[in-house]
Amino acid sequence: LPSTKDFLGKIYNYQGCWYYPNTLLGVLNFQKGFKPQETDIVIASFPKSGTTWLKALTVALLERSKYIPFLETNLYLNSSTPDLTKFSSPRLFSTHMPLHTLQVPFKDSPCKIVYVCRDVKDVLVSQWYFRSAYLQKEVDKSLLESSLDSLCSGVGYFGPIWENVLSYWRGSLEDPEHILFMRYEEMKSEPAAQVKRLAEFLGCPFTEEEEEGGSVDKILELCSLRSLSSMEINKTGKTSNNVHHSNFFRKGEVGDSKNHLTPEMENKIDMIMEEKYKGSGLKY
Ligand code: A3P
Repeated sequence: LPSTKDFLGKIYNYQGCWYYPNTLLGVLNFQKGFKPQETDIVIASFPKSGTTWLKALTVALLERSKYIPFLETNLYLNSSTPDLTKFSSPRLFSTHMPLHTLQVPFKDSPCKIVYVCRDVKDVLVSQWYFRSAYLQKEVDKSLLESSLDSLCSGVGYFGPIWENVLSYWRGSLEDPEHILFMRYEEMKSEPAAQVKRLAEFLGCPFTEEEEEGGSVDKILELCSLRSLSSMEINKTGKTSNNVHHSNFFRKGEVGDSKNHLTPEMENKIDMIMEEKYKGSGLKY
């Protein structure tokens, strides 16, 4: 496989997407061993786009277990035949893989995929803070520069971001019944409308009585950044790869990139984005 080094280490290209060696094994195991069920639901995203929020909303809507494992970095990391018998239907999974890689096992399966997309500049700033915490380094400009280079060249964790976003964008246009494309910014600006849209897509729409009884607001409150980040498990817990849960909750704002990126940095991203998204109908 084509490989190179990015600022965090050796990285391999598989089906157009860059993975560190560990995750690549998870992807290969997943493609080899995963057997979809008709009612499966997958939460997909590029890292730092609102995965945690969308997972919480989905769980709250379906009133199911609290944990949605990542396919490639949890379940299939060490085996192509993990024990999935403990998952009752509908099973909930999450992934950062691009759609075509995910579809190797999922092809022709009627399962549902929900993707959350976020402004690339805010993803960059969120990545920067997250990586600083993860690497236990100061939040310094050199890490921002490396993260920017990696994002723009596409050589970086699950990169290129443009291909990740476009794969689901195109998928959602071709197959809207099975692929829902959501935007972090719309979830922030019109949360009630977006959570209702998600509920409908998942096949559990709100009844009139539920709406009148305030169920939509209750779910939004339960899944707000404040409420998620104050849960004991998120204050003290760690992921299987030793990342503190608290690092997944920071500001949760739209446009925080304005406070950190120079006009040159913004320009660089804008120019690439314009070229990559040209003709796709996707606007940012
Ligand atoms: P910021 O770093 O910009 O604050 P992911 O879950 O994909 O790793 O994305 C993390 C980003 O989502 C972080 O963005 C985090 O603060 C934000 N986030 C987490 N939970 C959220 C929630 N309930 N509502 C809004 N944003 C949330």
